[in-house]
Amino acid sequence: MPDLPDPPIAELAELTAGLLAQPARISPKYFYDTTGSMLFEQITRLPEYYPTRTEASVMSQHGEAIARAIGPQRIVIEIGAGNCEKARLLCRQIDPAAFVGVDIAGEFLALSVASLRADFPHLPTLAVAGDLHQAIQLPADLPTADRLVFYPGSSIGNFDPAEAVALLQRSRQLLGRDGALLIGVDLVKDSEVLRMAYDDAAGVTADFNLNALVHLNRLLDTNFNPAQWRHIAFYSEAEQRIEMHLEAREDLTVRWPLGTRRFEAGERIHTENSYKHTVAGFKALLHEAGFHHAQAWTDPLEWFAVVLAHP
Ligand code: AVI
Repeated sequence: MPDLPDPPIAELAELTAGLLAQPARISPKYFYDTTGSMLFEQITRLPEYYPTRTEASVMSQHGEAIARAIGPQRIVIEIGAGNCEKARLLCRQIDPAAFVGVDIAGEFLALSVASLRADFPHLPTLAVAGDLHQAIQLPADLPTADRLVFYPGSSIGNFDPAEAVALLQRSRQLLGRDGALLIGVDLVKDSEVLRMAYDDAAGVTADFNLNALVHLNRLLDTNFNPAQWRHIAFYSEAEQRIEMHLEAREDLTVRWPLGTRRFEAGERIHTENSYKHTVAGFKALLHEAGFHHAQAWTDPLEWFAVVLAHP
């Protein structure tokens, strides 16, 4: 049997800092191995998880106005592209010149882009594996004019406000003066609607949260037993965010190549934040990141906004 590669040292150091912190935390990037990406796709179809279908309804209801504001022949760069489902919808609406998908789950992305290519055989497409927490590297020969960075799905909510500004700045750096950003933003709403979207009755979000442990066991040689952990999700009004945690069901010890940590029953690992914004609050973040013109479209309940911003 071939030897497995050693766990990457930088990731191990980051994991160690997170697991030894009080309270412990792990990065939400560990949700997205192939299983996690598939579980996330299931989440987007859950009755409780309104963001995906609400964003799609805004895109279709205001499709003509959005397409007019964007203009044709854009090079669409979707960051965090996942299954490229939203790109499929957008490409039908705006007649793009090319599509570039960027995502941390490289294998899953390659399959998604291949399937998009099958639907749009004349559209040049490219898959780029990359972590949005770092500078986004695109091929040097990709034209810089007429780019549209597309960041749907309210994924910006998984960054705290300072990180969100930094990511918006990195997105702006991908754009020339004539570029634009089209971004989906989940809005503040009734806290029970929000909580249920992250604690669904079928337990898919619980499986998604717990899968991060399975992924870490494989990638970084941790010895998590997912059966010893329970999924927790709640909305914090003060922070304007959903928090997801994993809570130890019993006293236990976690070991990994650089350390060990004992958890008592009830202790938690913070796994994800999902910030909710107001349209005015989000425009202020855009402004801080150097986007000075923004227009927003929403659904009738104002649960979700699609925002087009220009540098
Ligand atoms: C990817 N992101 C926008 C999702 C969200 O709603 O924050 C991730 C997610 N976590 C649990 N359910 C969905």
